[in-house]
Amino acid sequence: MDLKLQGKVVLISGGSKGIGLATARAFADEGASVAICGRTPADLQAAQQELSRRGVKIAAVQADISTPAGAAKFIDDSASQLGGIDVLVNNAGGGFGGRSVLTTTDEEWQKTYDLNLFQAVRLTRLAVPHMQRKGSGAIINVASISGWSPQLAGTPQYGSAKAALIFLTERIALELNQYNIRVNVVSPGSIQRTQGWDRFKRENPAAFDRYVRDGFPMGRLGNPEEVADVIVYLASHRAHWINGRHVPVDGLEQPVPVHERRPW
Ligand SMILES: NC(=O)c1ccc[n+]([C@@H]2O[C@H](COP(=O)([O-])OP(=O)(O)OC[C@H]3O[C@@H](n4cnc5c(N)ncnc54)[C@H](OP(=O)(O)O)[C@@H]3O)[C@@H](O)[C@H]2O)c1
Repeated sequence: MDLKLQGKVVLISGGSKGIGLATARAFADEGASVAICGRTPADLQAAQQELSRRGVKIAAVQADISTPAGAAKFIDDSASQLGGIDVLVNNAGGGFGGRSVLTTTDEEWQKTYDLNLFQAVRLTRLAVPHMQRKGSGAIINVASISGWSPQLAGTPQYGSAKAALIFLTERIALELNQYNIRVNVVSPGSIQRTQGWDRFKRENPAAFDRYVRDGFPMGRLGNPEEVADVIVYLASHRAHWINGRHVPVDGLEQPVPVHERRPW
């Protein structure tokens, strides 16, 4: 299937590790120019070196995109290095604080919302003028299965921020449709080879095995590449009739009792 992504400019927030890096590889393999960002220079450099070997242009921008200045730096540097923006993947995310709404702090809620929700709003706002100049665009938000099931939510602040991102996707798609820009959202289930789940497996292997047995009818966690493939497809013209929609990529993951879940 020709996805016609050759030469397109794709920005992936947090593309130096995990799902973001797998997504960057997948776009690069389609011939797209790719911009990634992250806060850790060594990880960015390693990712840039690896991605460059695929023979496409790569921009690696050090920026904390949970801040307005960091978001602007990522967009401006990427667009000027690669020549505008065709696709934006709002991938960076994660949680701060524990599970109880009674003991988590305002600061933990704020940081979680900054990273999962407000950065996506800001990056979208900043990227859209570049897409308008090109006459089309695609935005893919990365939410989580935690965003629609309270039973699956790692923490209330993380789950509710992802729920807002899922809601916002259709709302923004309705607004941007007039500019020929599509907006969709994917919700990964638990994905191995990402920082959080690797830590759980390392620190508590018995609980991890129980968790997999009870929550995963297909017998394993997902892989970053399985999420990346869906993102790439949604960004391509082949998905032009999919707009404002929410696509779970979770291998039929089931809620398991909260006490069986990862210990943070
Ligand atoms: N892994 C899962 O099981 C899973 C499940 C459902 C949803 N998700 C969602 O999928 C997305 C990717 O998760 P992941 O597990 O692949 O994450 P990850 O392995 O922790 O990687 C996160 C990436 O984002 C970057 N990042 C984090 N905070 C940043 C910030 N403030 N500014 C700039 N870059 C930042 C990281 O680089 P630096 O640390 O160097 O900044 C890294 O490149 C997230 O939205 C997450 O909520 C993941």
